[in-house]
Amino acid sequence: MIIAVDGPAASGKGTIARALAAHYHLPLLDTGLLYRAVGVSVALAGGDPDDPQDAERACAFPDSLLDDPALRSEEAGPLASRVSRHPGVRAALLDRQRAFADQPGGAVLDGRDIGTVIAPHADAKLYVTASVAVRAQRRHAELPGTTLEAIAADIEARDARDMGRADAPLMQATDADLLDTSDLSIGAAVQSAIALVDARLKDR
Ligand code: DC
Repeated sequence: MIIAVDGPAASGKGTIARALAAHYHLPLLDTGLLYRAVGVSVALAGGDPDDPQDAERACAFPDSLLDDPALRSEEAGPLASRVSRHPGVRAALLDRQRAFADQPGGAVLDGRDIGTVIAPHADAKLYVTASVAVRAQRRHAELPGTTLEAIAADIEARDARDMGRADAPLMQATDADLLDTSDLSIGAAVQSAIALVDARLKDR
């Protein structure tokens, strides 16, 4: 059983994917971490994340980097988003994600293109979203030092880049269930996600 969870930054998709993995006893891959590792590697090497060659070279990052707390920093998100535009980067990370999705017993993967490109054959697909205002407020609660306006502007820029790129842009798969978490608590969002996945699994 494969569960695909896609959506924009700060939509709640990571929390929901973790909760689904625990609920269905499935392994979880946060695919954003792979792109973050590429983005941070480029920066560490003094390269340019917008240069396809610099970004492709960084795809050979060591696995140990995936445990580095620097990948979860605020700076790593935009770096990841910039390197993720290059088709060569997406191709280099594809096999690893497909192999994880297709492992015996199944998996949960969260990202931007799981339901559309990595695992179009997933048994259940969620497109998790929330309004820019709500997503900015959530980030602001975690980063009180930054203004709400600056956070909202960053979120809009990241949405535009991730949705506007030519290769595997962020979009809702035609067979994905939409889950808007704008007015939902974490608990309510998780309950809705489980109900949507259960309904899909019943139809299998
Ligand atoms: O989910 P995240 O914030 O960790 O993702 C960081 C960036 O990585 C995101 O802005 C775009 C890119 N990404 C992607 O292009 N495809 C994925 N499946 C996951 C992330």
